Amino acid sequence: MPAAAVAPKALPSADPIMRWVRIRGAGSDDIDAIMEVERASFTLQWARDDLERDIGRNVLSAYFVAETSGAVRGYAGMWVVWEECHIMTIAVVPEYRRAGIGAMLLMKLIDEARLRGAYKFFLEVRASNAPAISMYEKFGFRSVDVRKAYYEDNKEDAVVMMREEGAATSCSDDASAEDV
Ligand SMILES: CC(C)(COP(=O)(O)OP(=O)(O)OC[C@H]1O[C@@H](n2cnc3c(N)ncnc32)[C@H](O)[C@@H]1OP(=O)(O)O)[C@@H](O)C(=O)NCCC(=O)NCCS
Repeated sequence: MPAAAVAPKALPSADPIMRWVRIRGAGSDDIDAIMEVERASFTLQWARDDLERDIGRNVLSAYFVAETSGAVRGYAGMWVVWEECHIMTIAVVPEYRRAGIGAMLLMKLIDEARLRGAYKFFLEVRASNAPAISMYEKFGFRSVDVRKAYYEDNKEDAVVMMREEGAATSCSDDASAEDV
């Protein structure tokens, strides 16, 4: 997978030597680091076996990690089946949020999915997850359905969001899209 090094919008003070965010394809060697991002980001985490299958053996999936200073700070993954892309996960460790890394990962997924022929994008997100919903809306996703009591831990609803090519906000409309 091609790697991209781009300047982030802001540099978290936690890492003063951070200069670049590098987005690259994830491999089996990244699974430990990805599990750390999962633990820091979700109450319900992906099983390691599922990640190993998706990253190591599933030709329909694509996963990317975001690195700074050689350490994984975030990751994202999707399945692409014909014209449909299903975004499975996206997360950034808490201390590196609000620096543009989530948006970079989402752009990378969209770009890769388009290369594979997708033009419809779907995802599910907790109804209370305002940061993620805001990010998806910036990328032209719109709520199309609600799955009642979808999440096992607290029976929270999932909002189903969809983005179609030609929607008002396209990837290339984003100010930093050309950097990714
Ligand atoms: C959602 C998540 C990946 C965003 O990552 P991030 O690196 O902080 O996002 P960015 O800095 O690229 O911000 C992109 C946009 O997301 C939205 N956003 C991010 N954090 C936000 C917050 N705390 N409040 C409101 N909007 C927020 C904004 O629209 C932002 O655009 P802006 O900077 O122009 O305002 C991150 O909050 C996260 O890992 N959350 C926990 C895991 C999760 O919920 N994943 C989504 C599962 S569906």
